[in-house]
Amino acid sequence: PRSIFFSRHGESQYNVEGKIGGDSLLSPRGMQYAKALPELILDNIGEKPLTVWTSTLKRTIQTGKFLPYPKLTWKSLDELDAGVCDGMTYEEIEQAYPDDYANRDEDKFNYRYRGGESYRDVVVRLEPVIMELERQENILIIGHQAILRCLYAYFHHLPQAELPYIKIPLHTVIKLTPKAYGCDEERYTLPI
Ligand code: F6P
Repeated sequence: PRSIFFSRHGESQYNVEGKIGGDSLLSPRGMQYAKALPELILDNIGEKPLTVWTSTLKRTIQTGKFLPYPKLTWKSLDELDAGVCDGMTYEEIEQAYPDDYANRDEDKFNYRYRGGESYRDVVVRLEPVIMELERQENILIIGHQAILRCLYAYFHHLPQAELPYIKIPLHTVIKLTPKAYGCDEERYTLPI
């Protein structure tokens, strides 16, 4: 059976600073994750073929750098666009746009950032990625929190309202093995 692996990029400089969006590089811890990832994947998949998909953002490309497999970058895998809030902390957003902040809390799936995207928008832009994923063999996606929530919800048939709250921790590989009905799941967390 083929497997689909999901991983967020290693911890980024923006993750450390609590800022959303952006195109920052990995932190030192994030780099440790990138260096440890090849062994974890190799132990799991052995000699079988694998293709690595990343977004066009530096933190996912950096995370995949040491993996000895063919790679593809997808613009559609870039993180949810936070529009005018890109580069801000949640605290700063609450201060600057209190109504927006409350609206997001009210309906996180449908809330669209000013000049940016909603989770619903992201689900639509991921359609071609999902179509391709359905046709492929073993794929490792190195992605972003919101993106991986959408893909995870698709494979586990989770409802829209739950999707924006799915826990996709850093430094963890999620392995999905599609079955006739639903998917088996395993998680591997690196102690970094
Ligand atoms: O904080 C990392 C991050 O990937 C941000 O870039 C993104 O806006 C956010 O997570 C998505 O999570 P949430 O929808 O819970 O704010």
